[in-house]
Amino acid sequence: MKNILIATDGSAGAAAAVSAGLDLVRDGDGTATVVYVREGIGPLGDPFYQRKLTEQMHEAEAVLERARAQAREAGVPVETEILEGDAPEALVELARSRGADVIVIGSRGLGTVKGTVLGSVSSAVVHRADRPVLVVKEPGGA
Ligand SMILES: Nc1ncnc2c1ncn2[C@@H]1O[C@H](COP(=O)(O)OP(=O)(O)OP(=O)(O)O)[C@@H](O)[C@H]1O
Ligand SMILES: [Mg+2]
Repeated sequence: MKNILIATDGSAGAAAAVSAGLDLVRDGDGTATVVYVREGIGPLGDPFYQRKLTEQMHEAEAVLERARAQAREAGVPVETEILEGDAPEALVELARSRGADVIVIGSRGLGTVKGTVLGSVSSAVVHRADRPVLVVKEPGGA
């Protein structure tokens, strides 16, 4: 595998995906990009827009820093990227534009609904992606 796209929302499920994605890089001669999609902001006037943007960028950076820490520990170089919008759409589009060989994603994320194997993001990515998707279950997770 050469070009790995890893999706994270900062959850334990996503940490398992980051770990699996890093393994794919380590086992080959690939590169990994870890991606977080922030929600975006509707029509909001200043200063509310700026405040919300700062809040979202802080959250994005915190999530990606956790992934970078995992990568450092694994000794695997990664790039990180913050996208905005509908998470499945943004992930599938980036995979296409980058020519990613595989999208690595957690089966579940931050959502609290129990009992389903896939969350709405992982489910939509599997449905919409035009390339292989590795869906990673968190050990001991649902
Ligand atoms: N905003 C996001 N940016 C990047 N990756 C994401 C984002 N949200 C989810 N993911 C990826 O999708 C995986 C599954 O998360 P998903 O959101 O589908 O499940 P959930 O949060 O448990 O359920 P739901 O959001 O439907 O309530 C995560 O482990 C992560 O890899
Ligand atoms: Mg979610």
